Order: sequence, then C-alpha cells, then structure tokens
Amino acid sequence: MAILFQQDEKIFTIQTKQTTYQMKIDDFGYLLHLYYGGKISGNMDYLLTFYDRGFSANPYDAGSDRTYSMDVLPQEYPTMGTGDYRNSALVIRNADESECCDLRYAGHEIRTGKYGLPGFPAVHADSEEAQTLEILLQDTVNGVQVRLLYGVLEEDDIITRSAQIINSGTAGIVVEKAASACLDFVTGDFELVSFYGRHAMERNRQRVPLAHGSLVIGSRRGSSSHQYNPAVIVAGENTTEDNGCCYGMVFVYSGNFLCEAEKDQYNQTRILMGLQSELFHYPLETGEVLTVPETILCYSDQGFGGLSVKYHHCIRDHVCRGAYQNTPRPVLVNSWEAAYFQFDAETICQLAQDAAKLGIDMVVMDDGWFGKREDDNSGLGDWQVNEKKLGCSLSELIHKVNDAGVKFGIWIEPEMVSEDSDLYRAHPDWAMLNPKRNPVRGRNQLVLDFSRKEVRDYIFEQICSVLDQGNIEYVKWDMNRSLTDVYSVDNRQGKVAYDYVLGVYDFLERLTCKYPDLLIEGCCGGGGRFDAGMLYYTPQIWCSDNTDALDRLRIQYGTSFFYPMSAIGAHVSAVPNHQTGRNISLHTRGIVAMTGAFGYELSLNRLTQEERQQVKDQIRQYKEYERLISGGDYYRLTDPYKDSCAAWMFVSKDRRTVLLHAVILENHGNMTVSYVRLKGLLPEVFYEEKESKRCYQGTALMQAGIPLPVEMKEYPAYQFLFQVKG
Ligand code: GLA
Repeated sequence: MAILFQQDEKIFTIQTKQTTYQMKIDDFGYLLHLYYGGKISGNMDYLLTFYDRGFSANPYDAGSDRTYSMDVLPQEYPTMGTGDYRNSALVIRNADESECCDLRYAGHEIRTGKYGLPGFPAVHADSEEAQTLEILLQDTVNGVQVRLLYGVLEEDDIITRSAQIINSGTAGIVVEKAASACLDFVTGDFELVSFYGRHAMERNRQRVPLAHGSLVIGSRRGSSSHQYNPAVIVAGENTTEDNGCCYGMVFVYSGNFLCEAEKDQYNQTRILMGLQSELFHYPLETGEVLTVPETILCYSDQGFGGLSVKYHHCIRDHVCRGAYQNTPRPVLVNSWEAAYFQFDAETICQLAQDAAKLGIDMVVMDDGWFGKREDDNSGLGDWQVNEKKLGCSLSELIHKVNDAGVKFGIWIEPEMVSEDSDLYRAHPDWAMLNPKRNPVRGRNQLVLDFSRKEVRDYIFEQICSVLDQGNIEYVKWDMNRSLTDVYSVDNRQGKVAYDYVLGVYDFLERLTCKYPDLLIEGCCGGGGRFDAGMLYYTPQIWCSDNTDALDRLRIQYGTSFFYPMSAIGAHVSAVPNHQTGRNISLHTRGIVAMTGAFGYELSLNRLTQEERQQVKDQIRQYKEYERLISGGDYYRLTDPYKDSCAAWMFVSKDRRTVLLHAVILENHGNMTVSYVRLKGLLPEVFYEEKESKRCYQGTALMQAGIPLPVEMKEYPAYQFLFQVKG
C-alpha cells in the first residue's frame, strides 16, 4: 500500500519506491504539509514549530494561542483570507465580493488505481500500478469544497496532484486563482531551474537562487508558450547533473499557466504550479465544479539526470497514449523547408519517389494544400483541397505516394482562421475578437473560438472529410499564433482562455478516437506548445522551427530535462540553414536529429550522390538504434552551454547496449582533447565499441571516459555503439 492514513495521528503518508510524502490534519482541521523527499519512516510533524511571530495572524479557533499562524505553517492547499500572506493556491471571490476561503478537512478516500480527469490530459496507469488519495476540504461559510487528488505511481516515484473546486454553497462565486500543486518547504536554500525562450529558440535553461520575494514564470498567450515551459525544477544549491536533491513540477496543461516560487520572511519556500490568474475569473454557480489540471511531482536525490530519467519514463509510458506510444515512428520527410508554399502534386510525388529510394517511410505535405493559400496571409479555415494548385485530387495524390512505397501525412492548423477566407466571411463571429475593437493580428491570422462547440464541430467535420479522402497516416497539428482578443460572444469572458484549451483537448480526443491509428505530431510554430498536456494526444511534437544543428543541440538539451526523446520531433534540414545561415555537415546534422523522432526537411532531389548515400546510411542507423533512442534511458553527459563538446547517450534497460552521441562545439588551432565520461553502465563488465572493436570496462568508461578525435572540421560529430559481449 503506497498510501497510509494513521487515524490516531491524522497523518497521511505516501510511500513510493524511493520517496515519501507526508501531511497531517491538525487540531483545527487544516491540512498541513509535513515532508516530501527521500524515503523515510516515522512521523515528521516534529518539523512544525510554533512561536509567537509578530504580525502573523492567528485563526479564531486557536483562541488566545498566538503561536499558531497560517502565515508560517506549511500547507497542502493554502488559500487567501486565512492569515497566510504568502502566495495562495486558491483565491475565491465570494458573492459578497470578499475573498476569504477557509478550507478544513472534511473527509478522505483511498482507492486502487489512478484517478482520471474527464476532458483533461492526465497521467494514466493500470489499476494495479497506481493508487489515489482524495482529500475533501471545505469552507462551511461559503460552501466551497476542494477535492485534492493525489495519484501515486509507487514504482515510478511519481505523485500527481490535481484539485477540483466545487461550489456547494447557495450563491455564485468566482475562482480568481487556482493551482493544482503547492510545495512548502520549512527549511533549505533552493534554486529554481526553468526553461525560457522565444520562437525558434525554445527551452534555454536558467538557474537562479530563490531570494526573498517571488519568482514568477507563466504564460498569458493562450498556449503554454515558447517563452516559458510549464515545468520547473526546485534544486538545492549544490545539486548537479548527477548528484544532489531536486524536485520537479510538470504541469499537464497546454494553456495559460502560473508558477510562483517564493521565499518568505522565515526563509521558508513555497512553490505553486497551476492556472494563470490573469485572464481568468472562473464563475461557479451552485453545484458547478472547476478542475485544475494536474501537476506531476517527482523527487530525485541523483541530480537532474536522475529526475529526467523518471520523467521520461512517466511521460512516455503514463502520459502518451495510442498506437504510436511505444512503437517506432516513421522516418518522414516534410515539405516545409523543401518547398514552403510553392508545390503541386508533382513536387510531393517527386519527394515521395526520392524518399522511397532513400528508405524514408513517409512524406508529409505541409502548409499550402488547401483553400486560397499561396502564402501565410489567407486561406486558414477553408479546409478544402486546392485541386487546382495540386493538379489532382488528394485521393489521387495519396495513391501515387503510396504507390511509390511511401506513407502519406498532412499538415493542418484547425484552431485558426484567415480574414481572407470563406469561413471568416461566412462566420466572422467565430473568430475570437471583441466586436467593439479591431482584432490584434498575428501572422495575419485570427484564432477561432474553440471554446464554442459549434465552431469545433464544424472544423472537426471539415478536417475529417479531408482525412477520409485517402490513406492519411499522419497529421501535423499546428498553431501559429498566440491568443490576444480573449473574448467569446458565447461565454463568460473569464472562462474563455481555459475553455479554449478544453475545446482543443475535446477536438483532439474526438480525433484520436475516430482515427486510433493516426500519428499526430503537435506543433506550435515549432515548440510553442511543448507540454505534457499535448503529449497525451500527440506522442511527438515538432521541437522547434529552428533546425540548425548547433542551436538544436541546446534546444533539445533543454527539452530533455522533462520530455522523453520519443516526443522530440527532429529533422535534418538543408544548408545554409534557413534560420541561421550556418553550414553544418550532413553527418553532424544527422547525429543531432537522430536524438528524437527522426526525419528530413529538405529537397531530396538536391542531394548529391554522395549525400544520398549518407542519408541512406543515416536512416539505416536510425532504424537500427530507434528502440534504444526512443525507449532507453537518456543521459546528458555535458552541458552544451559551457562545455567544449555536447554529448549525450542512450542506454538499454539491461544496461548492456549504449549509444553515445557527441558534437565538438569549439574549433581552435592546436586543439585540446575532449574526454567524455559515460553514465549508467554496468561497472564490472566489458563493453565492445562497434567500429574499433576495442573493449572498455564499464567503470573505465564512467570514470576516465573516452577521448574524442581531434579533426580539422567545424562541429564534427561522433556516434559510438558499445555492447557487452556475450
Ligand atoms: C509553423 C511550423 C512549420 C510549418 C509552418 C507552416 O511555423 O512550425 O514547421 O509547418 O508553420 O506554415
């Protein structure tokens, strides 16, 4: 049993393989947080201290006891109005406009299996793999109830948290702020590791000490955003890639989020992860419920590397779903950087024929095949095949592609509409805009109001009628602008941004149910919606619009802290690179892209004979190593922000097969040698390197490492396969 309740002490203890989480219902019914960290036994309520602290308020029930204050006690779900002046997990505006919500324990239940959140992405597990703890808190004055949900995957060291806010009172309320997880630490100096970026340069790592005050990251863009990823690590000052303690918080949501990290007056730390409070005023009438999407918590005492391995496993096996969850993905060639908007059926067929010769499994027809779409200024929303441009029907094109021996995939952007489109002319009110104002444009397009079912239903029908025209085995689901005019003619405005995301999920759920064998790759101008929420529907996401191998090393490095390699769409593109102008060898581009769901994004017919052979070899290699890359344990071996080489490796579950990738980042006269130390090997046994046939002991590879060659090349890359003999 992973979840225990001690009736006498009123203590809940969650035990996973290597971690413990503990909380207590105190004498006044408050749910206090006691401990989260490495596995321990015994009760941790001795950590609570009680002193009379100036200007910290005391609940009425405490009588004249001035030592009891919510302002300092660690809590599971702190609310506004109880005397806790730190950041709140929940803020309610009551019918009388007051903002107090005083939650006390009202009951609990421990169940087999992991709770689900209908309509939301969430961690899933077989019933024997997981348990659920549900704790009910309530405020007897305004009638607000909060159902705190804890999902426990004992073997995986994963604890999920979600909250449901229920209006059981008699008057309407407004939820102004709601988090799904709060981590209170009574002691310790922490640093926050977060991942910031911009379009085409996502998920750069930032590590900063938490000082007094709040450090806040989040999104108001409607999507989880290129700018801040909805996942953070709270680490000790001395935590490194391989050693020390750290906690991860991964929000399973694809819209506006808020993460607050606060160090308080007593040097205590509180981290909250949940819904963004701006653009959010969620009205709840009597009997209504608001679900706060879940946060996946994980603790590692083996540094960031240990944390990543656990998250990769959790997301790959317990977030991603569907036919492609654990099966090899097709190696694809995408038409975008090959042809942009200038293509017809002939171009796509040519790509397919070239692809077949090289061993590529699938050709993807990107943007430009529908409506009036010669550039990005028009046509979105008109999901009718532009047969005039293609020169044939979609069905004929797919047949030709399939006849060439290649699968067919297609690009869509269902959430958008161009002003210059038949859809917009017929239904201008379907776009998100305030009828009294001119809309703010982004890429010259508007966002459809996906909070409205009729809008979703119409687009769903249109998209299905495209997908039904032939053997379409893959869809790239794009979203190329952020929300601005968050307004719906049909909704309460404070709900729109949230309901929009639920609308996207509803659409994706219907699509995945109707086409269970379809592979969907998420995309949002590349990696602007790279989150665990989308991965529930789309097992891979186009990682970035930046395909430059050097930039990609860092983007993929940042992405790897939480998300498994199987989720990272990575392609070899042409040189000079279209985003940076850099020339990097095909070999290096291949090694960098071979770190995720692999493919190409260039005109195959421009490749030289020699390059064709190289591409064939790359595909053969990728296919040989695919299971290791997608399913093995992934280790970061260097830091590409500061080290002279970027190196990472994949190791099989039995630790007997190891694939090492490395790229030298610096190039100087009279070069120094880069040595790379491997990780996670069996120490005693000997591994043979495939090319040289040389054998190395596991400990030697881990302790001393191997030298990388010194060559007169820019960004040379290396791939080594090590296997235990026999
Ligand atoms: C976005 C995507 C690209 C491509 C274009 C098409 O930018 O990230 O890969 O599909 O849209 O317009």
